[in-house]
Amino acid sequence: MCGIVGYSGRRTAAKIILKGLSGLEYRGYDSAGVAICEDGAVNVYKTKGRLSALADMLEKSGMPKGSVGIGHTRWATHGEPSDRNSHPHRQGKVTLVHNGIIENYLQLREEAQANGAEFLSDTDTEAAAYVIDSLYDGDPIAAISAALPRLHGSYAFGIIFSDRTDAIYAVRRDSPLIAAKGVDECFIASDIPAVLSYTKDYYLMDTDEIAELKDGEITFYDMNGNDITEKKKLLTADFNLEAAEKGGYPHFMLKEIYEQPDTLRRLISMHTEKGAGAIFKNEIPDTSDIKRIFVVGCGSAMHAGLLGKYSIEHLCRIPVSVSIASEFRYDDPMVGEGDTVFIISQSGETADSLAALRLVKSKGAKVCAIVNVVGSSIAREADEVIYTRCGPEIAVATTKAFTAQVLIMYMLTARLAHDRKTMSDAFLDEYLSEMKKLPELVTAVISEPYVDLCKKFAVYNKPYEDYYIIGRGQDYATGCEGAMKIKEISYMHCETYAAGELKHGTISLITEGVPCMAIITDPDIAEKSVSNVKEVRARGGHVLLITSCVGEKSDICDEYIRLPETNKYLMPIVAIVPIQMYAYYTATNRGCDVDKPRNLAKSVTVE
Ligand code: G6P
Repeated sequence: MCGIVGYSGRRTAAKIILKGLSGLEYRGYDSAGVAICEDGAVNVYKTKGRLSALADMLEKSGMPKGSVGIGHTRWATHGEPSDRNSHPHRQGKVTLVHNGIIENYLQLREEAQANGAEFLSDTDTEAAAYVIDSLYDGDPIAAISAALPRLHGSYAFGIIFSDRTDAIYAVRRDSPLIAAKGVDECFIASDIPAVLSYTKDYYLMDTDEIAELKDGEITFYDMNGNDITEKKKLLTADFNLEAAEKGGYPHFMLKEIYEQPDTLRRLISMHTEKGAGAIFKNEIPDTSDIKRIFVVGCGSAMHAGLLGKYSIEHLCRIPVSVSIASEFRYDDPMVGEGDTVFIISQSGETADSLAALRLVKSKGAKVCAIVNVVGSSIAREADEVIYTRCGPEIAVATTKAFTAQVLIMYMLTARLAHDRKTMSDAFLDEYLSEMKKLPELVTAVISEPYVDLCKKFAVYNKPYEDYYIIGRGQDYATGCEGAMKIKEISYMHCETYAAGELKHGTISLITEGVPCMAIITDPDIAEKSVSNVKEVRARGGHVLLITSCVGEKSDICDEYIRLPETNKYLMPIVAIVPIQMYAYYTATNRGCDVDKPRNLAKSVTVE
């Protein structure tokens, strides 16, 4: 986690870095800091809390005038959020900011302390600063290359040497970092939105390449100190700053909810025009060797996998196993040659998902990534990539990237069912034509009557601290995603149960008035779920029913949302959207910071 920005140019570095960091706060917001080169010195300003606290501090100090600097917004891993654990950290001539984890930091600290070093923080980062400084004798590239083999773990560093205050240095392994080029100025950043106000031209930094940013130029070196700048490809960002800003909505999350019809439409028109047999033909030319499928991801990405499992197993009869990446990677998974693994990740940088990718590749499996961020680590290391193409997603709670991931699983289902001939042409034609209507259906469920209902129900649950969701089959998977939305942004405890399982324990928590949600979109098992709703209501539970197939105005529940209907295997995309809105209004009603929920970060680049 954490966000890094660095600047070397002619303008006031502190202002540019602050603005850049504001585009990266989704990566963590426990503390923030900058190191600015001023009159030959490297001055550090840092403070616990949001970026606004750092901005106040810099204003009060008269805004440092230097035009070279580095900055950081932190998501705490080692050491509590505090002033002294905030980055930048300094040891000797080295001041640096870090995103990642130095796994052997305790050993490095002990060795350093045995040599008389003093540490001012509890962080792993300070040990890295010490190692680089101990190897520095006036040549930054040599010191950085010598230090890296000693640092185990993941990192992206922005570094300043106190006797070289005209330059910043950058290097990465397994944590994202770009170097961007403007006119007479250059930048480093953890992500492109941080520099979009200044330039769209950037380089992706590869593992263990070192960049030197000086006098408006970027020079890249390999670990042997060779200049490799000529080999680097300058890329151009294909989205603008407006797309990364709120566009009039009070929160990024709401904006991103409302962008879903467009993101779905874009993907559908890119991939389905030539029929089911042509879907992902470029990325997966041949599906005949796919005997079983693994899907691996974290958080919502894993939930998208659960929904994919349901449709692929039902419609294509291919076994699909879905795993949480942090479990999968240490589970000695039975995967290898002949297996196909889909790694799903919005950011393409989630550490556990990246590690799972590397593991299955090393075992000979074929990896196809489903990723949003172009050029991210997962996208680069996978054999094939299917992009969700949602544009930047800023709110920590994912919405548009999730529905895009699910849609990709559904398009994949169509392709596999076509190639395996498990479904008739008539079924597939109907499935694709219903899929093309999804943007309209999602537009319907984000329009007035639904917004009003979601707001109303969010008022009901305000006095309660616990919330239960029930559903069967794919409705259960939709419920898992819904519960995560509610928990992460409103801090209300929420659990999803397979509807028939509730009575095996959790029903004891249902008492008078306790708010519950039932999701019923599968007419074939609707009756079974209705019985479970009755069980909940018999214990006093207050049930909001979200359904496409039960009653016109159902009398089995307390509150009712009737969803527009489509092919039942596509329903989760329609069903999750009002739940996203419901979570949003639950959170705003409680005065929560929707886009930046406590303790969370959007891009989790640590284990
Ligand atoms: C974080 C986010 C979740 C996301 C998960 C996986 O926990 O808050 O919204 O689903 O990471 O992220 P990824 O970028 O791999 O999809």
